[in-house]
Amino acid sequence: MPGISPGTSPGADLRLPRPDINWAIKHMPLTARAVEELAPVLAGKRLAMCLHIEPKTAALVTLLARAGTRISLTGSPGTTHDDVADALRGEGVAVPGVRAALFGYGPCGKGVADTLAHLGARVAVCEIDPMRALHAIMSGHRVGPSVDVVSDAQVVFMATGHPEVIGAAELDALPDGAVLAGVGHFPWELDRDALTASTLRTVEYGDTSRRRGYVLADGREVVLLDDGRMLNLTAANGNPIQAMDLGLTLQARSLAAVCAGDLAAGLQSVPTHIEQRIASDLVDLLSGPDRSGRR
Ligand SMILES: NC(=O)c1ccc[n+]([C@@H]2O[C@H](COP(=O)([O-])OP(=O)(O)OC[C@H]3O[C@@H](n4cnc5c(N)ncnc54)[C@H](O)[C@@H]3O)[C@@H](O)[C@H]2O)c1
Repeated sequence: MPGISPGTSPGADLRLPRPDINWAIKHMPLTARAVEELAPVLAGKRLAMCLHIEPKTAALVTLLARAGTRISLTGSPGTTHDDVADALRGEGVAVPGVRAALFGYGPCGKGVADTLAHLGARVAVCEIDPMRALHAIMSGHRVGPSVDVVSDAQVVFMATGHPEVIGAAELDALPDGAVLAGVGHFPWELDRDALTASTLRTVEYGDTSRRRGYVLADGREVVLLDDGRMLNLTAANGNPIQAMDLGLTLQARSLAAVCAGDLAAGLQSVPTHIEQRIASDLVDLLSGPDRSGRR
């Protein structure tokens, strides 16, 4: 890929199938438009990016490279295995009626919990922030302490971003056959020492680390998917193209603001005018034919 050099992450593999990247570019009109418009600011700049490598994020990198930037890329190579998605679909897991527990009701956990509920799951949420816990109740979820929400859960999702949220007490309370999955960025939300201490033996399924059973001292077996890593990236196709178009446009416009010298040095929120510009573009896009005069 011209203009792109491998970053610090060993083994980064940018050889994604071209059709996937082109498909993503075609379906991310906001991102494509933003990079095209900002090319004069971006051209010739050297950018460092940290992204999960999959066709949609590769589309942003490709667009930026075409706009004349040079990119050093680091990320989490190997977090997307689309073949695994098919294997999991083949498991025929039925969501309607399933009892799901969700840890953390931030933007990420809320998306998971609300989507599961929309699909007919019965969702229980554990959230330590009272305002967010209240939002979860108002959205129709059961809310309770960690041990309570896992006690009847068939599936448990971890979306707190914090370490060791599920420890010995929660493992003790899990029903036989419960499946654990990570949504948060790091696979540390399950206390591995506690799991190891409670485990008599592991059960290897045919699909190796994608699904491993842990038989606990009293004979219950809990199943951990993909070692607790972010399941939607490791075992599926990542986030929807529309969500990625929005998120990657935000990144492109923020990068351009940095390149243009518009921002003071240091960590800061995305400037309001960038958020409003993107919101306005998306409203145009979702409201039908573009009547704004912009391309
Ligand atoms: N899988 C994905 O595609 C994806 C996408 C975006 C973000 N993430 C990751 O998901 C995680 C959550 O992201 P977010 O933006 O929602 O974060 P956030 O910090 O806004 O929300 C996390 C929530 O977890 C709660 N929490 C913390 N410790 C807890 C505990 N012990 N028990 C119960 N609740 C607890 C917090 O009060 C907070 O409301 C992060 O690690 C983030 O990097 C994943």
